[in-house]
Amino acid sequence: MIARLLACTALSLAVALPASAATDAEVIDLAAAQVRAKATVAQMQPAEKVVITHGIMPLPGGGPKVDIPKDAIVGAGYVSGIDRLGIPALRETDASLGVSWAGGARGDWSTALPSAVAQAASWNPALIQRGGAMIGAEARAKGFNVLLAGGVNLARDPRNGRTFEYFSEDPLLSGILAGAAIRGVQSNHIISTIKHFALNGQETARKYVDVQITPGAAHESDLLAFQIGIEQGQPGSVMCPYNRVHGSQACDSDWLLNKVLKQEWGYKGFVMSDWGAVPSIQTAINGLDHQSGEQLDPGVFFGSQLSAKAAADPVWRARLDDMNTRVLTAIYAAGLDKHPAPPGGAIDWDGHAAVAEETAKQGIVLLKNEGGALPLSKTVKSIAVIGGYADGGVLSGAGSSQVMGKGGPAAKLPVAGSGIWAGFISESYHRSSPMAAMKAQAPGATMLYRQGQYIKDAAELAARSEVAVVFATQWMTEGLDVPDLSLPRGQDALIEAVAAANPNTIVVLETGGPVKMPWLGKVKGVVEAWYSGARGGEAIASVLFGQTNPSGRLPVSFPADESQLPRPRLDGSDWVEPDFGGNPKNGKDQLKADYNVEGSDLGYRWFARTGKKPLFAFGHGLSYTNFSRTKPAIKGLSASIGVKNTGPREGAEVVQLYLVQRAGEAKRRLVGFGRIELAAGASGKVAMTIDPRLLADWKDGLWTMPGGDYVLATGSDAETLDTPVTLRMKARSWKN
Ligand code: BGC
Repeated sequence: MIARLLACTALSLAVALPASAATDAEVIDLAAAQVRAKATVAQMQPAEKVVITHGIMPLPGGGPKVDIPKDAIVGAGYVSGIDRLGIPALRETDASLGVSWAGGARGDWSTALPSAVAQAASWNPALIQRGGAMIGAEARAKGFNVLLAGGVNLARDPRNGRTFEYFSEDPLLSGILAGAAIRGVQSNHIISTIKHFALNGQETARKYVDVQITPGAAHESDLLAFQIGIEQGQPGSVMCPYNRVHGSQACDSDWLLNKVLKQEWGYKGFVMSDWGAVPSIQTAINGLDHQSGEQLDPGVFFGSQLSAKAAADPVWRARLDDMNTRVLTAIYAAGLDKHPAPPGGAIDWDGHAAVAEETAKQGIVLLKNEGGALPLSKTVKSIAVIGGYADGGVLSGAGSSQVMGKGGPAAKLPVAGSGIWAGFISESYHRSSPMAAMKAQAPGATMLYRQGQYIKDAAELAARSEVAVVFATQWMTEGLDVPDLSLPRGQDALIEAVAAANPNTIVVLETGGPVKMPWLGKVKGVVEAWYSGARGGEAIASVLFGQTNPSGRLPVSFPADESQLPRPRLDGSDWVEPDFGGNPKNGKDQLKADYNVEGSDLGYRWFARTGKKPLFAFGHGLSYTNFSRTKPAIKGLSASIGVKNTGPREGAEVVQLYLVQRAGEAKRRLVGFGRIELAAGASGKVAMTIDPRLLADWKDGLWTMPGGDYVLATGSDAETLDTPVTLRMKARSWKN
């Protein structure tokens, strides 16, 4: 029932979808595919039962040497097929933002979507589904039939090096958007993962950090994001990560894999390991179905070793059949055997770039706009463009999700590692110049550029110009967290100096997630552009000059500083060698992360609970027009909110509905949202169905809602709420 209710959550009746939005993706039916999978397993010879249970990383120079079969494609993973049974080989590539570059080993290019947090800022599931369909089409055209996408970990700490790869700090928003992305990917008859299950909240020391959290708090937060994402997206596979949970590695966690995923949620697809995350063969009994990138593990456990166990022990035999059934269920559900993906398919580069550009436009968040400084006038005489390699391109995040656009990077700075790994950890800029796009918007303006290394020189240029636009970057990567939320390389001082020299200073942020802004009071405007993808430069210029009316809303809270966070210090950096694998120095291998500090109250919920004021609240985002909202009309779990565009031009509003009090207890939870596009003066309605799990707490296998008054309010962000409405609810509890 909950799944059905959820299908309607966040529905905005009035949302205007882009013409080619992939709204009609076939729903993957894992249950139906399972019947066929069981029939195939019944025909398997014992030796055939350990073929699809494990795979290699077909990457020359990527870790320990391995023989790469001829039909493999260089990328993240390869799993042999079984011709006799018509089972196709699996060719796996990363990730959620496009077909990744694999350190350059394949020598091809792909279309980069904006970062996931940028996508999430659109609060637009239909758009995100379209993005998923786009990257899935590219994966398919290149011959891949598994996309290691669906990153949905919650942003528990904004310093997490993969913040850019994940959607948000909120379970509802993250789950709905991940589900949409997965639907899009799988509409190409390829399998998508959802990852990394679960509680994979930091990168530094990722292989050793041991997460402590009560089952209740986990179900109400990180696990809920996965649960919703799985219900909405039906991914063929779930990837378990490196971190430990309650002492076990996540890929060896009976609690996560058997109890929660398979028993409680009834998940029918397969669990694949992250690359190098399998400690032993015992993981099979604890719920792991497939060993990926096996040469990175201490042993190939899911081949002949598994065969021997199955031959000797009926428990292992049954498990092995189940493992095969699950992998085949995913293969059949997505139709991999009936719709093979031969390499060399045509790619609609322009069409795909247009999807990336639209996503960037809808994800850009206007944080500050004093005195209507933005949009810039097209007749502006002179603009000083400063910093961020804005004359060349836009920043991207690094690691296994790194995508490289056609022609390669505009600039690429090596950061860490050697050999192929250096290609995974480099600060790379997509070839989409914001400055060139700004020139196209205002051809009459004189625009001069300074990279900003010499602050005095940049400030002098700013002083001579009518407007100064500073591009400030914060690079993030998989494998490493950022030590704090400052803008690195003296950019704060650069912004201060430019703002002191020119009263019309605008800052464009290209960051992986939240950053501190000590200069905020001194600049006129701040635009959060995130990592904006293949056409980020065009999208940024379009917002700066008002061709696009910004409609992004923050999917993560921006703290004023680190002292406001549940863990003011992110542990691990003092003893872990900063590298891709998070390997320990000094032989230490235990590090506890206590998520019970905040429990399920992370992000904006933490700010509400502690009364601390963030720099910018979750949900915040300005527009070049204004909107008014009616009081929500709520009947049962259905809510409807009227919205009017009261300003001078068309724009999009994101209606956010929060629970603020439950049975006398203060709470802050997003319970529904919907995006609506309205012409100037026009009105519309946003309808949403509240997912009751957001009103409940989880304990001992049950969701429980206390009886009493439930106070809900819409708001322009999680802190700025409209007049609330009170509903009387009966006590109830239910499973799942
Ligand atoms: C990452 C995964 C990725 C895998 C394969 C790992 O390092 O954590 O997200 O899918 O590599 O490249």
